[in-house]
Amino acid sequence: MRTASLATVLLGTASTIQAQQAASPGYDCYPTCIPSTVPANETLSFGRHYAVLNLDMITALVSGVAPTPAGSQWIANTARWIDAVHAQSPPPLSIFTRIYFSNSHKPEIGPASPFAKVGSALGTASSNLTEVYPAFCVNETVGDVVLQKTRYYAGAGNGLEEILRAQQIDTVIMSGIRTSGVILSTAYRLFDLDYKVYVIANNTIETPSNSPDINTNILEGILPKLPVAVITLEQALAALNASGPAIY
Ligand SMILES: *[C@@H]1O[C@H](CO)[C@@H](O)[C@H](O)[C@H]1NC(C)=O
Ligand SMILES: *[C@@H]1O[C@H](CO)[C@@H](O)[C@H](O)[C@H]1NC(C)=O
Ligand SMILES: *[C@@H]1O[C@H](CO)[C@@H](O)[C@H](O)[C@H]1NC(C)=O
Ligand SMILES: *[C@@H]1O[C@H](CO)[C@@H](O)[C@H](O)[C@H]1NC(C)=O
Ligand SMILES: *[C@@H]1O[C@H](CO)[C@@H](O)[C@H](O)[C@H]1NC(C)=O
Repeated sequence: MRTASLATVLLGTASTIQAQQAASPGYDCYPTCIPSTVPANETLSFGRHYAVLNLDMITALVSGVAPTPAGSQWIANTARWIDAVHAQSPPPLSIFTRIYFSNSHKPEIGPASPFAKVGSALGTASSNLTEVYPAFCVNETVGDVVLQKTRYYAGAGNGLEEILRAQQIDTVIMSGIRTSGVILSTAYRLFDLDYKVYVIANNTIETPSNSPDINTNILEGILPKLPVAVITLEQALAALNASGPAIY
């Protein structure tokens, strides 16, 4: 079956997936709670020029973690965040990314492109596996943007940087799958472009067969070194109340 072979390529063999499900790849205080880089007694605000980045939450990737306890918690946390962002008045800029190729020849990746090893099982825009997972609400009426990407970095080959610049965004708040892929790659790049970057720890996850230690090491060790702020979902929700009204 196409779904099975795709999952195999992207996520590892079925037996690996089964073996990982008990000790699944997520975060949510597994194996330990990540300390936020922002002290609990500090009032956090994203200002008025902020954008929310919801990265690579496509069915092909999400369906691999959905059956795990950490995966379903990640979905619930991330959906709660997206809904809270939409409930702001006015809603800030939300940008979703999807990984898909322009046509069935997959011209964005040749056999020699390193990313072909990761992404070549994915299809075109019309493949439902490349669509944003249904638990996550995309609302183009309120200005949500959905961008195509074909590499790790959220802005590879699309209008991300142009949109952020044109909308005078200075702060981004990231959620997504995988922490070692799009989150890490995008945190570095946007940090270097002078954006203030926040990562919501509860809204990050690895895919099986990656060890949960990878997630922990990135959130606890690497991102704070940049420094990129790693915050909890609760802090992010409270910060929405202290931010805005968003300019978009
Ligand atoms: C989010 O993560 C923090 C620790 O980093 C934890 O205390 C909190 O319970 C988590 N929130 C949810 C809704 O899972
Ligand atoms: C937060 O707590 C720390 C130590 O617990 C303290 O030094 C700091 O002044 C507090 N900050 C605020 C804004 O209350
Ligand atoms: C995705 O598309 C395939 C084939 O077009 C179909 O068999 C499958 O039911 C669809 N899955 C979902 C979740 O819509
Ligand atoms: C999108 O937002 C508009 C305006 O707030 C609302 O009327 C509509 O129901 C929303 N659509 C979805 C799918 O949530
Ligand atoms: C944010 O404000 C809303 C409306 O005033 C309130 O219901 C909600 O509890 C607040 N959330 C947080 C996390 O402070």
